[in-house]
Formats: sequence, structure tokens, C-alpha cells
Amino acid sequence: MANQRSKYEHLMYPIDWIEERSGLVGGIKYFLFRKVPSDINWFQTLGSATLTAFLVQATTGVMLAMYYKPDAKSAYPSIVHITNDLFAGWLVRGMHRWGASVFIILMFMHMGRVFLFGAYKYPRELTWIIGVILVALGLAEGFTGYLLPWDQTAYWATTVGISINGTAPFLGPFIAQFLQGGEFINNDTLSRFYAIHMLLLPAMIAGLIALHLYLVIRLGVTSPPWSKDAAGSGPLDDESEEKHG
Ligand code: HEM
Repeated sequence: MANQRSKYEHLMYPIDWIEERSGLVGGIKYFLFRKVPSDINWFQTLGSATLTAFLVQATTGVMLAMYYKPDAKSAYPSIVHITNDLFAGWLVRGMHRWGASVFIILMFMHMGRVFLFGAYKYPRELTWIIGVILVALGLAEGFTGYLLPWDQTAYWATTVGISINGTAPFLGPFIAQFLQGGEFINNDTLSRFYAIHMLLLPAMIAGLIALHLYLVIRLGVTSPPWSKDAAGSGPLDDESEEKHG
């Protein structure tokens, strides 16, 4: 028994070492082991499912970026190379392509759940507003990613997308001009879309997700609307604090 304890102490040493110097382990425990209302529901896992889909996109995206070549001559051949020649390349590319739709669908389902549960009400308005920005950025990720295979579908779908942007009042023509980077879609458009797709938007989305999760943890999750603890009375109010312990 004593032997076993010393074995575990040995295993815990690196964790204790980090905790003593950074307090990080306590922070992670606070993040993972939180009290939630006893009557939460499977629909409340949709936010975590969206987060998982985003992480899959980030991981497969990094893998693809190792082989993808963002210029007009080599973009399509590099996609063909990834799909046909690399080990599990077809799988990684397929996961990224289909995963993009999964991410958007899950995000809308999560948004619908939040709306139907009334979880956007005080004090969670800011969580909702950040969510709305995440929807816009998620759709922009889909739009910029669509051009990257540089095939006919990609080219013409982006031509239509940019034209639609151009019809927006006031800023529309400027946005279209900025996205296109010239009179028609060209090499600069491709590298511009690539930079936006794999650097700018993912960094913004990751930052906003961090803020979103900070607010979720700070405010606690809401009970379903049919529960005794109505939506809007989270752990912030004293009465429900007593109920949740
Ligand atoms: C990248 C996209 C998103 C991720 C990763 C994400 C993640 C999460 C997670 C993990 C939760 C806690 C668990 C849950 O309630 O499901 C949550 C809650 C919440 N999310 Fe999102 N979310 C995203 C997009 C959105 C969108 C589009 C909206 C609405 C416009 C939104 C509004 C909210 C609100 C108001 C809450 C608090 C709900 C409550 O307390 O019951 N989120 N989100």
C-alpha cells in the first residue's frame, strides 16, 4: 500500500510542479468541474459539439496547410496530390470539407437551442452577441475556403459571392474590391483568401470562443425553460445559488 502511494506521488510530481509555479492545474479544474443545474439536458451539449467541430477543422486545416500551395498554377494540382498520393490525405481533406458544413450546422442548432431556451436573456446578452459575431465569422470561413481548390466550381461560386457582396449598400463595392484584389479573380485573390481563411479568421474565432466560454463559466448554464429554475435565473441570483449549492 505504501509502495503504491509512493508510485502515485511519483506520477503526480510533474503536475504538482506545474501547479506550484503557475496555478494552471487549479484553473483547469475550475474550468472542467463546475456545478450545473441538476435538470440540464442533452441539447445543452450542442455548444461543446460546436467547439469539437471547430477543433477538428483547426487540426485538419493545419495538416492540409502543410501540403496546399496557394498560387494559381499549383493550387489545384496540390489538392489532387493531397487527395490521391498522401497517406490518408483523402480522409483529412474530406473531414475538413464536410466538417465545415458540420461546424455551421451545429452552430445554428446551438443558436436555436439558446433561443428556444431563452438563454440569451439577462445576464447572457453578451454571450449571445459574441455568438452572432461567431456565426458571421464561421460563414466567412466557409466562403474563403470554397475558393481554395481553385477548380471551376470554386472560381464561379466565388465570382457570384463577391458580386453579391458588391451589391450591399455603402461598403459593398469596397468589400468586393478588397476581396477580389483586382478587376477579376486572380492569383492575388487566391493568396488573399488563403491568408484570411487560415490566419485571420481562425485567430478571431479562437479568441471569441475563449471569451464566449469565459462568459459561460462566469454566468453558469441556464436550466431548461420547463424547469422550476426559469431561464434567466442563473447561479448569479442568490435564491438559485442556494438551490444549486
Ligand atoms: C464557434 C461557435 C460556438 C461555440 C464553440 C460555442 C460554445 C458554447 C458552449 C460550450 C456553451 C456552454 C454549453 C451549451 O450551452 O451548449 C455555450 C453557451 C452559450 N452560447 Fe455558444 N458557442 C458558439 C456559438 C454560439 C452562437 C452562434 C450563439 C448565439 C448567437 C451562442 C450563444 C450562446 C449562449 C447565449 C450561451 C449560454 C447558454 C446558457 O447559459 O444556457 N453561441 N456556447
